[in-house]
Amino acid sequence: MRRKIVVGNWKMNNTIAESVELATAIAEKVGNDGVTCEVGIAPTFPALHEVGKVIEWSGIALTAQNCHYENDGAFTGEVSARMLAAAGCRYVILGHSERRQYFGETSRIVNLKVRKALAEGLKVIMCVGETLEQRENGVTEAVITEQVKEGLAEVSDITNLVIAYEPVWAIGTGKTATSEQAQEVHASIRATVAGICGEQAASHLRIQYGGSVKASNAQEIFSMPDIDGGLIGGASLKVEDFMAIVNAAG
Ligand code: PGA
Repeated sequence: MRRKIVVGNWKMNNTIAESVELATAIAEKVGNDGVTCEVGIAPTFPALHEVGKVIEWSGIALTAQNCHYENDGAFTGEVSARMLAAAGCRYVILGHSERRQYFGETSRIVNLKVRKALAEGLKVIMCVGETLEQRENGVTEAVITEQVKEGLAEVSDITNLVIAYEPVWAIGTGKTATSEQAQEVHASIRATVAGICGEQAASHLRIQYGGSVKASNAQEIFSMPDIDGGLIGGASLKVEDFMAIVNAAG
């Protein structure tokens, strides 16, 4: 049985004070309401440490949105996996489509980051997803398979890996993949991972769906056999909306 995982990706939103306020309110609910799924929140870098302090008691996983693939050195503006682990992070999100689209991250770079983060003891949420053009051209499966294979190159142990399937056309657009569309891709990701790491490891792998998940569609999406939770953007910025999604996951 795979435990579902719901993570709020706050993206570039909230000051430290705002982050602490939101995190405190979420921790209040998650810590006291008998939530059974794993819950994470991913504030911006400056807020990580303070947020970590107010959620620690609740079991919520402190999550970062990105990291570099070296431990330290002359990489102005970057933050390393080692620093995130020391700041109390349990997870780091890597290869989000906004990073691929706006910051030129290739699957090769994502792979370097995944390997470094795992080596530093972080758990990784590796994102994959096709653009609208790719879906319309019928190459969704090929694109996702490639991203999974390249992202996991030379990764032998996937115990600490989660994959997030996030169709680019569904992120922040209000358009959600149907639960059948998502299930189809999730099943194909699991099959790809089985080919790389074996059936056993693939059957334990959690695969989240992301892209306009909201209270009204979460339950249906999470009910699909290969969908093990969600990576939530917009709806994770409001306590009630986020908690409704968390509760839909159990
Ligand atoms: P969204 O974002 O829920 O706002 O569509 C999801 C994500 O980018 O992780």
